[in-house]
Amino acid sequence: MARIGFALAFVAAAIATVNAAPTPELHARQSITSLSTAQVSAFKPYTFYAASAHCSASVTINWSCASCQHNPTFKPVASGGDGDLTQFWYVGYDPTLKTVIVGHQGTDTSKLLPILTDGDIIMEDLDSSLFPGISSSVKVHQGFAATQSRSAPDVLAAVQKTISQFGANHVTIVGHSLGAAIALLDSVYLPLHLPSGITFKTVGYGMPRVGNQAFADYVDAHVTNLNHINNKHDPVPIVPGRFLGFHHPSGEIHIGEDSVWSACPGQDNTSDLCEIGSTPNLFDSDADDHSGPYDGVFQTC
Ligand SMILES: *[C@@H]1O[C@H](CO)[C@@H](O)[C@H](O)[C@H]1NC(C)=O
Ligand SMILES: *[C@@H]1O[C@H](CO)[C@@H](O)[C@H](O)[C@H]1NC(C)=O
Repeated sequence: MARIGFALAFVAAAIATVNAAPTPELHARQSITSLSTAQVSAFKPYTFYAASAHCSASVTINWSCASCQHNPTFKPVASGGDGDLTQFWYVGYDPTLKTVIVGHQGTDTSKLLPILTDGDIIMEDLDSSLFPGISSSVKVHQGFAATQSRSAPDVLAAVQKTISQFGANHVTIVGHSLGAAIALLDSVYLPLHLPSGITFKTVGYGMPRVGNQAFADYVDAHVTNLNHINNKHDPVPIVPGRFLGFHHPSGEIHIGEDSVWSACPGQDNTSDLCEIGSTPNLFDSDADDHSGPYDGVFQTC
């Protein structure tokens, strides 16, 4: 009986995790709210999923990587990418969380920062064949758009296959760093090609800014279950700069030096409990914070 009770409580908790709004029942702290221990713990499976996306396609397809073992019930369906021109990705099903998982590989700061601090950054429209019907006022980083487009059709096919194979109706998209940028673009892309009954959740770690104000507003209106988690003084979430016209969507969670997770309302909240308030420019940043720890988890394979 105790066992059954435990199992039911576990299933209920798993369902609650999937269906939960990004940041419920919060505790006030200087008008910014901090997450409870349970709320922080609820991110753990997604944090490991984002870490596993750093692994090559050959080990995510049989789920043999070290970080993979932290999500032991996962059923891989497809993987791809070469870790060079096309970032690695994988798609499968988590029967515990009852969701399709889409993971996108990140990169390290030494590769990403030079690209994102380049003053000649080009923003462009989203490709209308991948993103039909989106206003041309929406502009995104050209390099991110190109990277996402290389895996997009294969990822969509894998998500469709996983949905039909497992009877799924929920899709969770995760990534760290460049992988978070691809995950954000996938969060806009996938719903345009999947049935309207499918619901989505996105969790990004150390996510750079991806697009302009119209893009951030589009994301706020359409990607309703999004969190992007920033660790301490990570430089990546503050680039490309707002002065270049880039803006974050809402949904930031910032991990402070005291390891408290703060929910930061609005786009680019300037509170010193949030990313840009605590790290106003690159001189205040620490590249070592990019990989973590996110509640004890580092973003490596
Ligand atoms: C998974 O695939 C890798 C790469 O092909 C291989 O080296 C490894 O033995 C496989 N592991 C399992 C558990 O099948
Ligand atoms: C930052 O969060 C505070 C507290 O919720 C809120 O009052 C403020 O409007 C937010 N700032 C921005 C720029 O969204």
